[in-house]
Amino acid sequence: MTHDPVTFLVLGTGRMAHRHAGALAKIRTEPEVVAGAAVPIILGIYGRNIDRLKTMADVFSADFMSDHLEGSIDRFDVDVVDNCLVNRLHYKPLMQAVAAGKHVFTDKPLGATLPESEKLAAAALKAGVRHGIIQNMRFQGGPQAAKKLLDTGDLGPVFHARVVFGYNVPALVTNRPPWFFKREESAGGVVHDMMAHFYDLLGWMISPIISTHCLTFDGITEREDPDHGPFRSDVEESCAVNLRFENGAIGQVFSSWVRRRHEDIPTIEIDCANGGLLVTANRCWVQRGDGPLFHYDPAAEQDDPLHGWEPVKTTPADPFEVQLRAFVRSIVTGDAYSPDWSEALRTHRWVEAAYESNASGHETHIENP
Ligand SMILES: NC(=O)c1ccc[n+]([C@@H]2O[C@H](COP(=O)([O-])OP(=O)(O)OC[C@H]3O[C@@H](n4cnc5c(N)ncnc54)[C@H](O)[C@@H]3O)[C@@H](O)[C@H]2O)c1
Repeated sequence: MTHDPVTFLVLGTGRMAHRHAGALAKIRTEPEVVAGAAVPIILGIYGRNIDRLKTMADVFSADFMSDHLEGSIDRFDVDVVDNCLVNRLHYKPLMQAVAAGKHVFTDKPLGATLPESEKLAAAALKAGVRHGIIQNMRFQGGPQAAKKLLDTGDLGPVFHARVVFGYNVPALVTNRPPWFFKREESAGGVVHDMMAHFYDLLGWMISPIISTHCLTFDGITEREDPDHGPFRSDVEESCAVNLRFENGAIGQVFSSWVRRRHEDIPTIEIDCANGGLLVTANRCWVQRGDGPLFHYDPAAEQDDPLHGWEPVKTTPADPFEVQLRAFVRSIVTGDAYSPDWSEALRTHRWVEAAYESNASGHETHIENP
């Protein structure tokens, strides 16, 4: 016995579209089972460039493809529109899908601007469709293990959390899509891009956020797009963000696209009353008790910084597959999905609060974000 198939239309042929389509292709091969019955997946892809579209459709054995977005929902009887286009192209296709009564899933951010996110969240709630957003960092093995440990209460109250994440994008932009540096397409720089992850992650892991303070730095302003030549980067490329949490803890995030020390994934440190956690995407270490005591000896060689920290068992997973499986399940069962667009809207409000703080020089508080 099987359920009715769920037909996905993935929008885009870029980096994230590959991750979403790859996850869905896996779920098509190893279907999600709900109440003893498999849920068949039908995978369609939309892209404006026919060559890229055909190549991607081949890679994932797509069931259909379209280089025309208008009319595709009806033509292919789509159940879910999954948006992986540039930020400025999130709003219109998602709004059209909601208006057509379709379920909607998107990579972050929800809308390019806060009013867009507000309208999208309100429309999806009103339409009664399922709405989800990728917040992949929550679903990695490291943060999952850390959250479980924090929730046991064994480590005591959290004092603070600190995240560092960055790498270098040279003036000739070859290691990420150049549109991230063009406000017209991105709607914002590293705050818009990376804090859409970290406000969500820390608010979920530590406690709801109650205020934030942000400083930004422009970075490299004269950049070059390998395809379209020189351009002026008109977005912030680094940020130093402070946060306060409802449980009294404080937090700090430093994120940069012009950082020389390279990291493919963020590092998160969490200090608690009875120990600490060090977390990366798929790894986690715990320190219990008092830890090494402070002795100032400038002549000594430093100890291994992880001395006394024990590895915590993690279950590495593809967070895109984890999230899309849960989304498929929520469509079949009718249960609520999390993270949904009200959570995405809350995160977007904090991103706006960060920009406001950078402009005013003050800490920004939001009541009931
Ligand atoms: N979850 C994550 O970790 C993560 C990481 C990177 C990006 N993202 C988000 O994913 C989304 C896509 O980012 P990406 O890195 O895959 O970018 P990308 O440049 O690789 O892909 C963007 C896609 O948009 C398409 N596109 C651009 N302009 C278009 C137009 N006018 N008409 C039709 N299609 C158009 C491109 O052809 C491409 O298919 C963004 O919203 C970004 O914020 C999320």
